[in-house]
Amino acid sequence: MQMRACHSVTLQSLSPVWASRNFRQRQHRHLLPPPNAVALKARRTHSMPPEKVEVFKSMEGWASEWVLPLLKPVEQCWQPQSFVPDSSLPFDEFSEQVKALRQRTKELPDEYFVVLVGDMVTEDALPTYQTMINNLDAVRDESGTSPSPWAVWTRAWTAEENRHGDLLRTYLYLSGRVDMAIVEKTVHYLIGAGMDPGTENNPYLGFVYTSFQERATFVAHGNTARLAKEGGDPVLARICGTIAADEKRHEKAYSRIVEKLLEVDPSGAMMAIGDMMEKKITMPAHLMYDGEDPRLFEHYSAVAQRMGVYTANDYADIVEFLVGRWRLEKVEGLTAEGMRAQDFVCGLAPRIRKLQERAEERARKMNPRGFFFFTNQTPPPPPTNSHLLVASPYPPTNQPTHLARLAAFPPPNPANPRHLPPPRVAASPEPTPRPASPPPPTHPSPPPSNPPPPPPHPRPLLSPPATLFLSSHPRGHGAP
Ligand SMILES: [Fe+2]
Ligand SMILES: [Fe+2]
Repeated sequence: MQMRACHSVTLQSLSPVWASRNFRQRQHRHLLPPPNAVALKARRTHSMPPEKVEVFKSMEGWASEWVLPLLKPVEQCWQPQSFVPDSSLPFDEFSEQVKALRQRTKELPDEYFVVLVGDMVTEDALPTYQTMINNLDAVRDESGTSPSPWAVWTRAWTAEENRHGDLLRTYLYLSGRVDMAIVEKTVHYLIGAGMDPGTENNPYLGFVYTSFQERATFVAHGNTARLAKEGGDPVLARICGTIAADEKRHEKAYSRIVEKLLEVDPSGAMMAIGDMMEKKITMPAHLMYDGEDPRLFEHYSAVAQRMGVYTANDYADIVEFLVGRWRLEKVEGLTAEGMRAQDFVCGLAPRIRKLQERAEERARKMNPRGFFFFTNQTPPPPPTNSHLLVASPYPPTNQPTHLARLAAFPPPNPANPRHLPPPRVAASPEPTPRPASPPPPTHPSPPPSNPPPPPPHPRPLLSPPATLFLSSHPRGHGAP
């Protein structure tokens, strides 16, 4: 395979847009995230020494035998349609299924939907992740249909992942609980922005990163499954649990690759683990932006932390899990640099755990700027509680009912059933997809009737991050 200049240093492609006066880049400014969403970072590229390409070449037989079997044959895979109302049914039956879905999601708190949207947006930025993997030297898909086991894995992994965003998106759409236009714009921005995982086109770093990320998504989807179950939606619980099970299988594949690298090249692999941990693992959606909130990802993360979906403690758990999984303390035959990396990584989890308290405090205190709620509905009445409802700090748009909320970020109240309880349990098991539907008859859908005027906004005022993406429709408002 062809290697480009090794150890070269480039400026992250997006960053200079906001830092320089480069005319050409300024011309494309409207396509990019806001200034403070992108940190100015110099990144190394192609940091793997060219001779190590042979390490991956020599592992191809092993990868065919030990990695590819972790993919599921398409015919045995679940598909999103098994979990959502069947649009091929007669319209009445379909709309009954949608009504049932809305009934189930009715009692889930808005905070839950913020986290679910964040998860969905993260999954939907899949083109970025496939690009990242195909940027890794020695394992990229050179032709688009390469028979190399690395390339076969990447294509099939992408196909498996593709169902995650699709399913969550369809469910969110049918729930009527979120403003899909904002969600879609957020996905659009995120894919356009890319990501900066710090993997330097280096497959050692890349596979450490993906091992960590798959574990992180397993944990997060497992927790959204638990919360959905507790909140009264067993189908959504099955959906999140099913996705979590996929992530677990993917984690197994990537962490198996790193385990093999530790065997073949212990110092190289150990230093890669140390390098990624020192940089800290960047979340794939860290450049998330909805066109309004330059700190959207922070706000989403704060809600995830408060809900117990993905916390600083989870980060430490994952580090600890991988250190144990790879038996890093027992790795021998390391160079001096490898041993330094070993000491660093093996002592990392307790240090991260100390940050948990601070992360919780930060999430609790976070008082983000107002949420922009674009709607053609009547604005909700002024709040009767102590939260603030103030004018938008941003210029008004041409939408007359545009409303911005700015409120304190209240701590969870255990007495409030809308604040789901914090205890955490293991992810849900594999679901049983519902039986196949009868063959679709020809049944023209009736034209949608005019919906009744919406009742006064019934929703209590929520903390601002929790209102991101929410639609203005009252809950359980019936079929479309
Ligand atoms: Fe996924
Ligand atoms: Fe995955």
